[in-house]
Amino acid sequence: MREAIRFTLNGERVSLAGEDPTRTLLSWLREARALTGAKEGCAEGDCGACTVALVEPEAVRPIASCIALLGAMDERTIVTVEHLAAHGRRHPAQEAILDCHGSQCGFCTPGFVMALYAHYESGGAAERAALCDALAGNLCRCTGYAPILAAGLAMGTRPAPARRPSPSQSTLSIERGGRRFFAPATLAELSRWLLAHPQARLLAGGTDLGLEVTKGLRDLDCVAYLGKVAELKEVRETDEALELGAAVTYAEAFEALARLHPDARELLRRLGGAQVRAMGTIAGNIANASPIGDTMPMLLALGCTLTLRRGESERRVPLEDFYTGYRKTVLAPGEFIRSVRIEKPRPGARFAAYKLSKRFDQDISTVCAAFHVTAEGGAHFGFGGMAATPARAPRAEAAWPRGVEAACAALAEDFAPISDHRGSASYRVAAAQALLRKFAAGIGPRALLELEPVA
Ligand SMILES: Cc1cc2nc3c(=O)[nH]c(=O)nc-3n(C[C@H](O)[C@H](O)[C@H](O)COP(=O)(O)OP(=O)(O)OC[C@H]3O[C@@H](n4cnc5c(N)ncnc54)[C@H](O)[C@@H]3O)c2cc1C
Ligand code: FES
Ligand code: FES
Repeated sequence: MREAIRFTLNGERVSLAGEDPTRTLLSWLREARALTGAKEGCAEGDCGACTVALVEPEAVRPIASCIALLGAMDERTIVTVEHLAAHGRRHPAQEAILDCHGSQCGFCTPGFVMALYAHYESGGAAERAALCDALAGNLCRCTGYAPILAAGLAMGTRPAPARRPSPSQSTLSIERGGRRFFAPATLAELSRWLLAHPQARLLAGGTDLGLEVTKGLRDLDCVAYLGKVAELKEVRETDEALELGAAVTYAEAFEALARLHPDARELLRRLGGAQVRAMGTIAGNIANASPIGDTMPMLLALGCTLTLRRGESERRVPLEDFYTGYRKTVLAPGEFIRSVRIEKPRPGARFAAYKLSKRFDQDISTVCAAFHVTAEGGAHFGFGGMAATPARAPRAEAAWPRGVEAACAALAEDFAPISDHRGSASYRVAAAQALLRKFAAGIGPRALLELEPVA
C-alpha cells in the first residue's frame, strides 16, 4: 500500500512522503511551495480568497484550499493561480479582470480569477445569473462586484470540454506517530478498516470536518477518506428514485438532484457557494447531523432511505429514524452511510422547498422547510432549524386535510425551537407557519381537496 500522497500540481507530479495528510492544502501551498497567490481570508470556506481549481473528469471545480486536507488531494490534479499565465499568456479570466478593473486592493483577486477560470474552463455561460452563482463563494470588500461581473461577461464562453477519463485510484495508507490516514479505493477495504478502527473520523468533502482543523484547532488522529472509493461515487437514477453514493459531491449530483424538482435546484444553488458544492456531499450533510443542514428537510419531505454499512452487513434506515438527538445518530462504531436514496415526487404530487437565511447566498438557514403533498392527499413536511434535529411535523401533517390553518396551528405544537443569533423561537414558529401558508397558496385550494395529476 502506498504511503506517499501524490498529485499533479500545475503540471508537475508531486509525491509527498512524511507530510501530514491533515494539513490544509492552503498551508502547504503557501508555506511549503511558496505559492502565495491563494490567500487566507477566513479559513472556513466562506470568502473564496484561497480558491484553487481541481481538474475533475466532468469539469474544472473551484475548491476552498483552506479547508481541503492534503490527504484528500491524493491522485488529483490541482491548478493554482500561478499556473494560469505559465506559458507566457494570460488566461482570459486574468485578461478580463485587468480590462474591467476588477481588482483594487487585490487580496480577493486570485480567488476570483480561479473561480472565473473554473467556470470558463468548464464551459460555464458568460451570463449574469450563471456568473453570480459561480462567484457567490467569493467575497470582495473593495470593488462592489460590478467590475468583476463585467469581467466574467467579457471573458466569454468556451465550449464545454469533453469528459476526461476518471483516473484510476489506488489505496493510500499513512501511519506515523500513532496517527493514521486511510484513503481506500474500494468499499471492501473501507469497511474492513473501519471495523478495525471504529474510532476513525470519516472525511468526505471536509466542508464540515475541515473546520474542526482550521477553526477548532483539533488534530484528526485517525481519518478514513471516502472520496477515492469507487462504489461510493455511484449515481443511480430510476423513474422512482435517485440513489447517491456517499462520496458523490453536490456538484457531481447537481443535475440529477435538480431534476427532482425546480425547488430542489434552487435549494442546492443556495447551498454554500461553488467551492462548497464542489467538495461537500449530501451524506456528509446528513451525517453531520446539524439541525440546520439544508438538504434534510427536502429529503424528509420526499422520502429518503439511507443504506448504512458496517463490515459486510448493510441495513436500510429511513432518514426520519436516523437521528436520536442533537448531533446524534443511529450509526454504530465502524458503521457509515454507504448511499442515500431519494424518492422522486410522483405524478400529481405537489412539492416546495424554502430556505430562509439572513443573506441570500452562502449562508446558513434560520429555517428551512419542505412540503410534499401526494396525489392521494398524504402530507410529508420536513423542517430544519425548528428542533434539535431535522424533523418532520407529524401533527401538522395529520391536520393538513382539515386545512392550512389547522396545519399551521398544529405546527406550533410540533416544535418548540430555540432562540439564537439567527432568529428567536417565536420568529421561527411564525416563519414556519408563513412558509406553510405560502405553499398552500402556491398550490391553490385544490390541495386541500382532491389533487389532480399534473400534466
Ligand atoms: C462556507 C460553507 C458554507 C456552507 N453552507 C451550507 C449551507 O448553505 N447549507 C448546509 O446545509 N450546509 C452548509 N455547509 C456545511 C457543509 O458544506 C455541508 O454540511 C456538507 O454537506 C458536508 O458534507 P461533506 O462531504 O463536506 O462532509 P464532511 O465535512 O466530510 O463530514 C461531515 C461529518 O459527517 C461525517 N461523515 C461524512 N460522510 C459520512 C458517511 N458516509 N458516513 C458517516 N459519516 C460521514 C464526518 O465524519 C463528519 O463528522 C457549509 C459549509 C461551508 C464551509
Ligand atoms: S480562506 Fe476564506 S474560503 Fe478559504
Ligand atoms: S479588491 Fe480588495 S477585497 Fe476585492
